[in-house]
Amino acid sequence: MIKLFQGAEAILYKDNATVIKERFSKAYRLSHLDESLRKFRTRREAKVLTKLDEMNFPAPKLHHFSDTRMSIVMDFVPGETLKDVLKHGDEYQHFAREIGQKVGTLHKEHIIHGDLTTSNMIVNAKTSELTFIDFGLSSFSEKIEDKAVDLFLLDRALEGTHFEFYPEIFEDALEGYKETNPEAVDVLDRLEQVRQRGRNKSKN
Ligand SMILES: Nc1ncnc2c1ncn2[C@@H]1O[C@H](COP(=O)(O)OP(=O)(O)OP(=O)(O)O)[C@@H](O)[C@H]1O
Ligand SMILES: [Mg+2]
Repeated sequence: MIKLFQGAEAILYKDNATVIKERFSKAYRLSHLDESLRKFRTRREAKVLTKLDEMNFPAPKLHHFSDTRMSIVMDFVPGETLKDVLKHGDEYQHFAREIGQKVGTLHKEHIIHGDLTTSNMIVNAKTSELTFIDFGLSSFSEKIEDKAVDLFLLDRALEGTHFEFYPEIFEDALEGYKETNPEAVDVLDRLEQVRQRGRNKSKN
């Protein structure tokens, strides 16, 4: 078993073809709060991964989870994160459209990712398909608002991390989004309002 990644909230190990993600306690959080938060996120991640498997959506298959050990065992996805792929190449257009198509598919099924960054997408080395990970902050919602906020956070993340390709990378992603989410027009309308609120807030 090798250590794969040490995050702010979780530690990940690789064991052959599987990954073990364990959420550790945070000293600064009140302990009962900390435990319920970790329990909630572990269960939520497991639940969303199960649903995604039923949908045949590219995400790691869940093997096992424990909300006492706060751990998830899932498939190891071979390949680099999209963040790294974009950092050493300029082939962003293809991926941008695919990001949008995949987010549109999630939203069509009322799944809000909650942390849409290019570190949470892996270019699967076997299938070449963009595979989404890190569903601990996900939710199930039919609300247009929640979908617009998910896209707003993606926009912010792309601007911050891939400024070389911004704003084109987000614009291309939206083209892909429209292809898979039939409610796209409403969501994009709302996205404008979300942005406007952001601008008004920063003026105060
Ligand atoms: N199933 C997987 N297969 C291959 N690599 C993975 C897998 N899951 C995670 N990783 C790698 O580990 C990193 C961290 O994983 P993840 O994003 O799930 O944790 P995190 O950001 O610390 O989580 P959280 O935000 O829920 O605390 C990813 O960016 C990716 O490089
Ligand atoms: Mg992550």
